[in-house]
Amino acid sequence: MKQVVEARTAHAGGVSQDFADPGFSEAVIGWQKQHGRHALPWQNTRDAYRIWLSEIMLQQTQVAAVIPYYQRFLERFPDVRALAEAPSEDVMAHWSGLGYYTRARNLHRCAQRVVEQYDGVFPSDPGLLAELPGIGRSTAAAISAFSYGTRAAILDGNVKRVFCRVFGVEGFPGSKPVEDQLWKRAVALLPDADMEAYTQGLMDLGATLCTRSRPACERCPLADRCVARATGRTHLLPERKPKKAIPEKSATMLVIADQSHVLLEQRPDSGIWGGLLSLPEIDVLEPADNTREEIEATLRIAATRYGVVDDFERLQPFTHVFTHFKLHVSPYQVHLAKRSDFAGQENWVWYPVTGLADAPLPAPVKKLLLAVFREPDLLSL
Ligand code: ADE
Repeated sequence: MKQVVEARTAHAGGVSQDFADPGFSEAVIGWQKQHGRHALPWQNTRDAYRIWLSEIMLQQTQVAAVIPYYQRFLERFPDVRALAEAPSEDVMAHWSGLGYYTRARNLHRCAQRVVEQYDGVFPSDPGLLAELPGIGRSTAAAISAFSYGTRAAILDGNVKRVFCRVFGVEGFPGSKPVEDQLWKRAVALLPDADMEAYTQGLMDLGATLCTRSRPACERCPLADRCVARATGRTHLLPERKPKKAIPEKSATMLVIADQSHVLLEQRPDSGIWGGLLSLPEIDVLEPADNTREEIEATLRIAATRYGVVDDFERLQPFTHVFTHFKLHVSPYQVHLAKRSDFAGQENWVWYPVTGLADAPLPAPVKKLLLAVFREPDLLSL
């Protein structure tokens, strides 16, 4: 066994190897048919629009979180033309809460391109699919395999984990040499037929058995060929990304409202919240560095662009953790004696408070506003 395992253990960046592995795809396909997932809302269809939508939603979000969004999205935008023709605020509102909003902007642009360039029919060639906004190589292969049965390799995070373990691939799988090697393996392992079951099987294995912690090796159809299992390294493979400290940012947000409306600002197109509405933000130094009077003076001056400030109160600060950074939010509620005349400021809107639950807002801002208007006592300091 030791020799077999050594022979199968792979070092990234080595000489060109033959990555074929007889029996691998048959094991995945047989297992998928018997034990894989068969009733997800985007399965049992060949409608490329539905499959594309699901794959984009599933890029950075788990199945359980995607399902209700997917269903609501399809009710509102039942086909690619309906989506292409919809106003972008409507698309953003149906995405609000799913995160990674670049996906929604690309989704909308992609729908428009499919209508303009392909008369509303997604191409079957993964190379052409990968030229469309928001579709990378792996997503293109998944869409093509599920919609048209095309023989094309996927390699998302879950599949990388399966391959790293089964073949004992060392090194961080996000690094270029390791990723290149994994792509070569993914292509070499493709079956001649049954692409849907194979593709879904790799995804299902990664999501349900070959999980990051406590993989269910006793139920895995690849266990008898798995290098990580044979060498007791399932907890060490795939190797983790070398750590960097995550940056932290602070934002002071203003809640400027009357009984029925709140002032929101359209965010510029670039940046994580591009295309969404959000609260006005101002540059105020940290409370720790400033006295309350100094902060109030700064706030008062900054808020005069929105109107004549009567009074304001500090609300409960909170921290929102994103994957790439932490955002510390210091919210202030500002009471205006008189609103500014906003003529010419098209990026500001007085938004009805009753519509906030469905507004295209970043998740932490929506949470804050719903709390302010539903449970104001919890927030006052
Ligand atoms: N993750 C990405 N694509 C998926 C799919 N089609 N089914 C389940 N999970 C997925």
